[in-house]
Amino acid sequence: MSKGSIAVIGGTGAEGSGLAVRWANDGYRVIIGSRSAEKAAAAAAELTALLNREGGSLEGMSNADAAAAANLVVLSVPYSAQHDTAAQIVDGSQGKILVSVVVPLKPPKVSVVWRPEAGSAAEELQAQMGPNVTVIAAFQNISAGHLKDLAWEADCDVLYTGDGKEAKAAVLELIKSAGFVGVDGGVLANSSVVEGFTALLIGVNIRNKVQGSGIRITGIPR
Ligand SMILES: NC(=O)c1ccc[n+]([C@@H]2O[C@H](COP(=O)([O-])OP(=O)(O)OC[C@H]3O[C@@H](n4cnc5c(N)ncnc54)[C@H](OP(=O)(O)O)[C@@H]3O)[C@@H](O)[C@H]2O)c1
Repeated sequence: MSKGSIAVIGGTGAEGSGLAVRWANDGYRVIIGSRSAEKAAAAAAELTALLNREGGSLEGMSNADAAAAANLVVLSVPYSAQHDTAAQIVDGSQGKILVSVVVPLKPPKVSVVWRPEAGSAAEELQAQMGPNVTVIAAFQNISAGHLKDLAWEADCDVLYTGDGKEAKAAVLELIKSAGFVGVDGGVLANSSVVEGFTALLIGVNIRNKVQGSGIRITGIPR
């Protein structure tokens, strides 16, 4: 029996597909959401081939259907597509937790911190979704690079921010399920800092000629 269902909106992309395969391998029913249900189904079939444990599953649907079918929704699209994509899932996400992986980057200077007017992409999303959806921001600093390698053990942390205690506890389970240590970063307003770190890390990657620098919090019990 699966652990629960997760819709990964934008799960056809680099970051969402990596998270999706990790959650499916850990026993979740994962629904890949896409603007095209056919593209989602093809991505789900490809990712299924990577699984090395039984119990979980991957399937594909349109963004709206995926959000409506799952217990919990994850948004993993470029910031430029956030508003339009969120409009597709607003109905299906009511009463649910919505995890935002989105980083607001302003091309071409993607290594320079840029914040939307709301403070962060996650706060902007919360305003658009309304009070019956609990937005929790997480995974912003996790590079897509190694995610699909199920043998890869992360040496970086996931900072997660949000305003609901129970929702944050549920997201911490997803963070652990994906193989990471989660560190509570406080209220959703703090997501602006976590999102900003990603631009900084992109610059660190460029200057060090690496692809996946990350953040690790020291001085806490593990
Ligand atoms: N890549 C990373 O290493 C990384 C790390 C941390 C955080 N993030 C953040 O995670 C989010 C997803 O990143 P990603 O690298 O996975 O992005 P991506 O591969 O470029 O896009 C993800 C998916 O979003 C949809 N999409 C793309 N452009 C769109 C558009 N113009 N309009 C509507 N939908 C569009 C596509 O899905 P369909 O065509 O199937 O609809 C695409 O497969 C971003 O906000 C990014 O900043 C990424």
